[in-house]
Amino acid sequence: MRLRAISGPPAAVEADVLAVPIYREDAEMAPDLSELDLASGGVISRAIAWGEFNPLEHAVSLVEAGDLPVGHLLLINAGARGRGAWRARRVGAVATRRLNGRAAPKLALWLRDDEDDDAWTAAAAGAVAGTYRSTDVYGRVRDTDAMKRSVEEVLCIGATSQEALDRGAEVGEGIAFGRNLSNRSANDLYPERMAEEARRLEADGCTVEILEPDQMAELGMGLLLGVGQGATHGPRLIAIKLPGWEQAADGDRLAIVGKGVCFDSGGLSIKPAENMGDMKHDKSGAAAVIAAARTVARLAPDTPLMAVAPMVENMPGGNAQRPGDVVKAMNGMTVEVTNTDAEGRLILADAMTWAERQGATHIVDVATLTGAQAIAFGEHISAYFARPREWGERVGAAAERAGEWFWEMPLALEYRASYDTPHADIVNSGGRDGSLIKSAVFLSEFVTVPWVHVDIAATAYLGAEKPYGPKGATGSAVAALVSLAMGFTESD
Ligand code: BES
Ligand code: MN
Ligand code: ZN
Repeated sequence: MRLRAISGPPAAVEADVLAVPIYREDAEMAPDLSELDLASGGVISRAIAWGEFNPLEHAVSLVEAGDLPVGHLLLINAGARGRGAWRARRVGAVATRRLNGRAAPKLALWLRDDEDDDAWTAAAAGAVAGTYRSTDVYGRVRDTDAMKRSVEEVLCIGATSQEALDRGAEVGEGIAFGRNLSNRSANDLYPERMAEEARRLEADGCTVEILEPDQMAELGMGLLLGVGQGATHGPRLIAIKLPGWEQAADGDRLAIVGKGVCFDSGGLSIKPAENMGDMKHDKSGAAAVIAAARTVARLAPDTPLMAVAPMVENMPGGNAQRPGDVVKAMNGMTVEVTNTDAEGRLILADAMTWAERQGATHIVDVATLTGAQAIAFGEHISAYFARPREWGERVGAAAERAGEWFWEMPLALEYRASYDTPHADIVNSGGRDGSLIKSAVFLSEFVTVPWVHVDIAATAYLGAEKPYGPKGATGSAVAALVSLAMGFTESD
């Protein structure tokens, strides 16, 4: 897709479709909207008046454009004003997604608000993401070429810079790459295959290292091995280093660590059958860090960045880990596995220890870690924990710039006692109450450098289609991680 910055006024733009966000505040039509309405011959006010577009009911409506030089107007319910990049990204995604399968190759996008570079980068990423077709992963013989059409060119009215749009397009492609990895089924994308996908990043100048089970045993990664031992497909640890990682010498180095559970059956503490299939998305953290590494490698290869993805299948095989088993972590701690379904924290623990030994000075882990996060936050918001909180502020700000909604939760170390056991240093499940916060407390035992944990259980995949995305993977955290990495060496 091509994205082009153009200057207004929107009423003069020629395209197949002009997308216009309608805000809640437009109950009293704002002057900029009135102006366009007037130029169109009253199309917008009539659509609102006869109920074709009602912001209380409709996400998006396609209406005739009246006297305007465009073919159609796409009215988008943009909710309340504000929330800059997040809103811009949503509007971009809704606009192109509504036109999938339509003969409308040229879209003009007007954001109305006085947006900055970050918002336009997010809008561009959203516009590219909106053309994503999950059906392309495995194909569908009945899909016709007409069904596969999508917007080819987006004219960005009032965009602050072409560079911001180009960056957004690259981020949008990274999001699609991450989504594909997450959407692929577990019989197709098991740990070894994920490692093969990661190897392809060598073409982007990255150094890719894959640890196999015997190397993990030598390194003492008992937690990662324990989770992986019930599956026929053995575990892998993927590490992707950008050229800038080696160059950093004594400077700061950022490791992004993603939970890579190709399938989470729960293991012997098996999950209910309902929705178990969604657990192919339990590798979304790994998908996000690999996609982010690829994107940053293309945009800013000198960034001192490493992506680490511990990959396993959590299966109840004959050799599966049992509740009550005691395993030893790479950092020397013993862990009593009281619930084999609390597997994400186990594999992340060893992966973060390894990342530190590789020279990471800062760590961000991303994981579909707890059902509690999904229940508490819903599909829009990811939760994060930080130590120290100043590092969390930087991660939160990067997410906001990238159009992702992150919210900080307390790292309440007071809950450490819920992990006590007479059999080991720690158990792996502190029970249901507070499990979102407690999961972060568990992880905190395995990190010594500045660290942020992001739980993306809610945001990693959509359980049903939405105006801004299809059912399945969303590419959550890719944009935030790219934005964080790109700004990483700028300040401290
Ligand atoms: N992958 C799940 C968390 C999850 C659940 C993500 C639903 C997305 C949707 C994770 O491995 C898990 O099973 N967590 C348990 C932890 C508990 C046993 C302490 C959970 O949240 O129930
Ligand atoms: Mn689990
Ligand atoms: Zn899991």
